[in-house]
Amino acid sequence: MVTSTDNLTEQVHIHASNLTLAYGDFIVQKDLDFSIMRGDIFIIMGGSGCGKSTLLRHLIGLSRPARGEILFENVDFCSATELQRKQILLSMGVLFQSGALFSSMTLADNVTLALSLSQTISLNPKEMRELASFKLSLVGLKGFEDYYPYEISGGMRKRAGIARAIALDPRILFFDEPSAGLDPISAKLLDDLILELRNNLGTTIVVVTHELPSIFAIANNSIFLDEETKTIIASGNPNDLLHCSDNEKVRRFLTRGDNPGMDQLSVSHQHPVQPPTTEHNPSMNQS
Ligand SMILES: Nc1ncnc2c1ncn2[C@@H]1O[C@H](COP(=O)(O)OP(=O)(O)OP(=O)(O)O)[C@@H](O)[C@H]1O
Ligand SMILES: [Mg+2]
Repeated sequence: MVTSTDNLTEQVHIHASNLTLAYGDFIVQKDLDFSIMRGDIFIIMGGSGCGKSTLLRHLIGLSRPARGEILFENVDFCSATELQRKQILLSMGVLFQSGALFSSMTLADNVTLALSLSQTISLNPKEMRELASFKLSLVGLKGFEDYYPYEISGGMRKRAGIARAIALDPRILFFDEPSAGLDPISAKLLDDLILELRNNLGTTIVVVTHELPSIFAIANNSIFLDEETKTIIASGNPNDLLHCSDNEKVRRFLTRGDNPGMDQLSVSHQHPVQPPTTEHNPSMNQS
């Protein structure tokens, strides 16, 4: 018999418990407990230097926790077998903070890089090309297959990075500061794309960001890391935290240091997360 607890466990994509992150003796964050559910758009937020990227590196298995565990679909990443680790890694896509694309490779080659390196997937050059075109079209970059990263705008480079991250149809995507350095329109298009990926493909998406418009537009869950206490000081839907958090630091962060008056609160309430459109906006090509 399947119990409601079983159902809940099935929905948990990542579960972190009692996690301590450190570089040698330097503890960055400690006592972290949180769950990321399937289909969540989960935001890791907090001030600069609090450890957001460090947490992301741990979640994708690049660093080992000093203490505690990270369960990936119920499998502990650290004690997983080689095969399990491989399966976990194949289920994730990552866009790093630097967004780094290989500058000497075309967008198509950047997108299919992971496939060329994969020992389990073998596609011929024509199939590779078709896959690259398809992934680039998903992010509004149809027709840009043969461009080099330096020939396109910053917003387009971010989207090409996302096309590369989704090349292997990941079940979970990690984005570190995806909209940093983008103008507000390009940042909004990127938010729409993130919502589309989640809503159309069911992908779980973990985003490190301190861009408030993005946080309020896309998140359904979040944690707030604090540099001073070195742990999570708030969690939940950021729109709820804005209204209900009893933590002054969190409220100040979410209101950019302003004291939120009732006007501001009600304006934010009038703009709930918009359902994504399935059509791609042709203007995305011009960001
Ligand atoms: N490889 C490393 N070795 C030692 N310390 C590090 C390393 N990487 C980061 N740190 C330190 O760990 C802390 C957290 O850094 P991290 O990059 O995770 O912060 P962040 O929240 O992502 O910051 P930002 O918002 O500026 O990107 C900082 O004090 C940083 O100096
Ligand atoms: Mg960072």
